Amino acid sequence: MSDMSGRTTVVVGASRGLGRGIAVAFAEAGAPVVAVARTRTDFPEPANGAGTIQPEVVDAGEATAPAAIIDRYTPETIILAAGASPHMRPLQEQTWETFSATWETDVRITFHWLREVLLKPLRPGSRVIVFSSGAVLGGSPLSGGYAGAKATQRYITGYAQDEANRAGLGITFTTVLPRFAPMTGVGEPAVRAYAARAGKSVDDFVSQIGPLLTPELAGTALVDLVRTDASTVAPGYLLSGAGLQKLS
Ligand SMILES: NC(=O)c1ccc[n+]([C@@H]2O[C@H](COP(=O)([O-])OP(=O)(O)OC[C@H]3O[C@@H](n4cnc5c(N)ncnc54)[C@H](OP(=O)(O)O)[C@@H]3O)[C@@H](O)[C@H]2O)c1
Repeated sequence: MSDMSGRTTVVVGASRGLGRGIAVAFAEAGAPVVAVARTRTDFPEPANGAGTIQPEVVDAGEATAPAAIIDRYTPETIILAAGASPHMRPLQEQTWETFSATWETDVRITFHWLREVLLKPLRPGSRVIVFSSGAVLGGSPLSGGYAGAKATQRYITGYAQDEANRAGLGITFTTVLPRFAPMTGVGEPAVRAYAARAGKSVDDFVSQIGPLLTPELAGTALVDLVRTDASTVAPGYLLSGAGLQKLS
């Protein structure tokens, strides 16, 4: 699948952060990209002039959003990178609203979009990638319901794969679990909060993380993932500055 020119790619959560890096990388790889977010953003002309980026200003958590975008663009790749930035406070300083914010955004978006992918359904050979979090593996005690919400996204993605298999749809669903990306909307406040809790400066904390994930690295890794033969793709991957690592 080295030629991406016929493969329309919808990136949900593309106005900034990891999603923006992914939208730019797919366009540079030659794909027609639909960049979904609630805020309108300008994108650079893709290098090589190969692909295109069409911004769509949409609240992806609206129940009708996935059908509207999927009917209009008939994508073969959908990447859900949208998410709320959690309120970084210990449990006793959360309210129910701050605790559950990622459920109302990240989980809601995953539920509506994967449901529509199955109902439509997308064409055989289509790929759907959902951004969960490395926090799923060890918890995230300073971000309320975040780790549980990201775990639920991972479960929903597995449920969707089972339903697609049962119906013989030929769609591949993958969960990606990023490690800290300290310069993006979710990563930056998280790194600050965990550095403070560890009694370290942000620089010292970040220097212990290892190779840092950036939007550009996320973009390169996701293009490689979509180019990988579906029969060899794992259900889940960790994503760090060192790239993708299969989860067993
Ligand atoms: N950064 C990290 O360290 C890290 C670590 C683990 C997991 N993750 C996960 O990776 C994903 C991306 O994180 P990030 O740090 O890149 O986030 P970010 O910089 O805060 O960007 C979030 C993106 O999601 C969009 N978005 C939020 N709600 C939306 C909605 N209702 N409809 C449409 N778009 C919406 C935002 O655009 P608008 O506000 O314009 O709508 C923005 O483009 C998230 O799912 C996050 O949980 C990140």
